[in-house]
Amino acid sequence: MKHLIDPMDLSREETDEILVLAQDIIADREKYRDLMAHRKLATLFYEPSTRTRLSFTSAMMELGGNVLGFSDAKNSSVSKGETVRDTIRVVGCFADIIAMRHSLEGSPLVAAEVSEVPIINAGDGSHSHPTQTLTDLLTITRELGGIDGITIGFCGDLRFGRTVHSLIKALSRYSGINVVLIAPDELRLPDYIKQDVCDKMGIRYKETSELDEVLPELDVLYMTRVQKERFLDEDEFDRVKDSFVLDARRMSLAKSRMAVLHPLPRVNEILTEVDDDPRAAYFRQVENGKFVRMALICKLLEWKDSPEHSMPQGEAPLLDSALHCSNLKCICNSEKVPPRFRRTPGGVTRCWYCDSKVK
Ligand code: CP
Repeated sequence: MKHLIDPMDLSREETDEILVLAQDIIADREKYRDLMAHRKLATLFYEPSTRTRLSFTSAMMELGGNVLGFSDAKNSSVSKGETVRDTIRVVGCFADIIAMRHSLEGSPLVAAEVSEVPIINAGDGSHSHPTQTLTDLLTITRELGGIDGITIGFCGDLRFGRTVHSLIKALSRYSGINVVLIAPDELRLPDYIKQDVCDKMGIRYKETSELDEVLPELDVLYMTRVQKERFLDEDEFDRVKDSFVLDARRMSLAKSRMAVLHPLPRVNEILTEVDDDPRAAYFRQVENGKFVRMALICKLLEWKDSPEHSMPQGEAPLLDSALHCSNLKCICNSEKVPPRFRRTPGGVTRCWYCDSKVK
């Protein structure tokens, strides 16, 4: 069974197939109008969303299919204590495919382990957001004509920004990528992405806290919101919340063909005066999200029973009852799941579900 839990669950070829199909859908929407007739998508959103949930809904409707689910788990039997695993088993009786968002990291992985239908991770805590990544890849392709060789600056909250983590992983599949990490010390990219992705996969990267200095180098500027909901300490959030603001003056420092992406929602990190700049691609990016999710739904259902499209076989998990994941936002600390870990090539032990370092 093919699920999409992490961007690396898709091979480069599978990713390309989805991006090509999305572009064909854009070119001829009529051709795909009834492709998913009588099929059902369940959207299980345990955490708020506008773009991801509604674009999945719109995508399935545009394919002629139907949508069921919840946008607030408080109105479901989750409020009575039903586990993710039981909920997935139940919803799998009603739907052909499930898109889920959860604040607990690793929840979609646990869901996929028990599911009879494909699971799509629509965002798990600060961990991963692979359908945003497909949206971003399609947007870069459409804005710049390709992905290989770009210099991309990620700016803002690189610590909690799951869209950043997922996109950097996916970019490791392309050649000649340069990554510029622009963040204050408190919001730097987690070590596991730098070590396990950038260093291992040969992505060149540099870190800075000076946006103006690096802006002229960038082909893509990927702005992010500082994610208040992920901070355990409000004072720390107040110190960093306005670290970077993109305005017209800063845009004058950038290349004439740079594309500004943002997964949205924005708060005040991009002033509205930038919106009419032709390089501001973030609202076009939103629409791309619908087309790429249409393509993803079609492909996951096409690949469902194909042995050629199974999940990648990585290393077997390390089972050690003496180890403990201390990430309170990991599913393993909320539901009874087997304690599993993995050892990185650098000898670091990480939680199987959330990738946190285990001491
Ligand atoms: N980009 C994104 O995930 O937006 P939502 O939180 O509104 O779904």
